[in-house]
Amino acid sequence: MIYAANWKMNGSTKFVNSILSEIKQSIAPHIPLGSKIILCPPSIYSSAAVMFCKNMPVEIGAQDCSSHKDGAYTGEISADMLSDVGLEWVILGHSERRQYHNENNPLLFEKLLLAQTAGLKVIFCIGETHQQYLNGTTKEVLMQQLSILCTPDLIDLDYIIAYEPIWAIGTGVVPEFQKIEIIHQFIKSHVSEKTNRNCDIHVLYGGSVNPENANQLKSLSDVDGVLVGGASLDPEKFKQICL
Ligand code: 13P
Repeated sequence: MIYAANWKMNGSTKFVNSILSEIKQSIAPHIPLGSKIILCPPSIYSSAAVMFCKNMPVEIGAQDCSSHKDGAYTGEISADMLSDVGLEWVILGHSERRQYHNENNPLLFEKLLLAQTAGLKVIFCIGETHQQYLNGTTKEVLMQQLSILCTPDLIDLDYIIAYEPIWAIGTGVVPEFQKIEIIHQFIKSHVSEKTNRNCDIHVLYGGSVNPENANQLKSLSDVDGVLVGGASLDPEKFKQICL
C-alpha cells in the first residue's frame, strides 16, 4: 500500500517539524513491509523533509515542477533541482494545477519528459468534474488525460497514477466504492493496453480520504494506495489512515 500525502500550500517550519516528528515516532515504524509513505510538502520545506526522513521508510516528493529545463523563468523550480536536493517524487497533473494554472496535456507532457530525464518518479493525477461524472463521460475524460502518459517518449518514466475525482476533493464526498473499483480497473487495463506495462501499474485513490473511509478504500482490490490532502495535515488522522 502506498500512503501519499499532499500537504498543498499549508504549514510552517514549526508545523513541518512537529508532523515529521510524529510520523517518525508513531507511523513510520509501524508501516508494514512493502508499504511506503510519500510526503509532498511545499517545495520550500522539502530539503528539510529529505534530511529529516533519511533512514526512514518515507520518500519525499514535490507538488509540481517547471515545464522548462532551466533558464530565465522567475519563480520556477526545475525537475533537476528537485532531484538534486534528494526528492524522489513529483506530483503532476493535479486538478488544482489544471484548474488554477491552466495546465493542459501539452504542458504536462513537457513536465513528464523533464521528470523522466531528472529520474523523478511521478504521481500523475487524473479525474473528472461532477458534471462529467453525471454525464457518464468519466472514462473518456480519463483516457484523454492518460493519453500523454501512454506515449513511447515516456517509456522509461517511473510513475503511479492517482485517480482523484475533482468533485471528491475537499468536499467530504466519495464515489461509491464499487465505482472506484471499476474506474481503477479501467485505468489499469487501458494503460496496460496502450503501453504494454502489465503488472506494474499502480493506482491510488484521492479525494476526501479520511480515517472513516480509509479501511474500506484500502480493501478494494485495485486500490494500491491513497493520496491524502486535508487529513494528511493531522498526524492522528494520517496515522489512522496508514495503520
Ligand atoms: P482531500 O483529501 O483534502 O480531499 O484532497 C485530496 C487531494 O487533492 C490530494 O491530492
